[in-house]
Amino acid sequence: MFATKENPIALPTSPVLRASRRPQYVREGVCLLVALTILGQLLLAWQYCSGDFLITSRFQDHSANSTLGFGSIYAVSKPGSPRQQPLINAAKLTSLNITIPLQPRWSEQDITDLQTPGNSALDRGSALAWLGHRNVLSEFLKTRHDTALILEDDVDWDTQLRIKQIPQTAYAIRELLGSHGNGYYGSLESWDIIWLGHCGDFFNAARGSDIPVIKSFIDSAMPKLEELHPWTRDFLKEIGAVKDQQRLVHNSVQPLCTFAYAITRPAAERVLNELAAREPLRNLGNPCKAYDVRLLESCRDEGLKCITVNPELFHHSDLGSEIAQVTDNLGSTQPSSVQKDMTELPTTNIRCSARSGKWQEIRDSITDSSIDAESLVKELAELSSECYIDDFLPHDLA
Ligand SMILES: *[C@@H]1O[C@H](CO)[C@@H](O)[C@H](O)[C@H]1NC(C)=O
Ligand SMILES: *[C@@H]1O[C@H](CO)[C@@H](O)[C@H](O)[C@H]1NC(C)=O
Repeated sequence: MFATKENPIALPTSPVLRASRRPQYVREGVCLLVALTILGQLLLAWQYCSGDFLITSRFQDHSANSTLGFGSIYAVSKPGSPRQQPLINAAKLTSLNITIPLQPRWSEQDITDLQTPGNSALDRGSALAWLGHRNVLSEFLKTRHDTALILEDDVDWDTQLRIKQIPQTAYAIRELLGSHGNGYYGSLESWDIIWLGHCGDFFNAARGSDIPVIKSFIDSAMPKLEELHPWTRDFLKEIGAVKDQQRLVHNSVQPLCTFAYAITRPAAERVLNELAAREPLRNLGNPCKAYDVRLLESCRDEGLKCITVNPELFHHSDLGSEIAQVTDNLGSTQPSSVQKDMTELPTTNIRCSARSGKWQEIRDSITDSSIDAESLVKELAELSSECYIDDFLPHDLA
């Protein structure tokens, strides 16, 4: 059954021998195939399991600058959104310079212009988010910067992002790209998008050809394996990244959610004018329901060179989505009691929340006027190896 006309197996010439040998040849062929397949899988598994992709060499341990090595950092945010203040506080705590461009008030026409006429799969909320991202991209292109990091306004990050995580991540990306020396994240020609914040770029190790190269490093500001979201944890275990606090960088497979992504100028132009100019024309079986899906498709199908940091360094805080719901329903800011309660929910896959309201509580509890409360709290956040707010009770510093 394996020796077809198109693909014959060479057989001995004697008809008797041929008759007697045939099943054996077929069996040998099949066994060889199976063996080769198993060997391939083993080699692949070895690459993952041996921690081959773990970078142990030393990297430059300087803190990143206030824009994390990009030209600027932007946040996508609706005018007057209650998510802005916590974002600004977190940025101040961790010495980041985040610009929040003013968004126009979108008209019904703006929304209609974005949607495919007739059978749009974009609901109103997704359309507004899409317009928000487009607005920030065009603001970026008005500047002379080469790169920008774009955040959604409800994201959270670790307090050691700038001083520890980004320097390691940038080093790993330069290793991945084989591009040291020119550019904080390697040569600008070698990438279009870096997904620093997403809700998962899961792939199957058994289909390892998806991912020819992975670089990873131990990030002491990352949650332990068992503290990660179950999907993240299971994914890491599945591909053999089983060391605690092992973070990977690799070419993107299918990253979803645009919590935080860096983009180069040429890529921003392409996304704005071509790839995400509007909802793509599709049949109903294959809709594009949101901007983040479009960006995923741009990486997967449209030739953008994308890199994923896995697990993510930015994740949306649950506080943000709660506020969004309340705000969207009421059309105004929500009662502050909701905000206060929600603040204490931990952010998925983030060890020490820069956005937590507890930092403000600590600052407020420092009554000794000879102490520079602002600097002290920044030091506690950025420099202590344990997450200070985990054990903080308001009377600790009173
Ligand atoms: C931060 O570093 C990047 C990369 O070196 C550089 O392009 C940018 O201008 C710097 N930004 C600031 C504010 O120093
Ligand atoms: C923050 O970044 C903006 C835009 O990149 C720049 O104009 C501004 O001077 C920066 N502010 C500080 C305090 O560095």
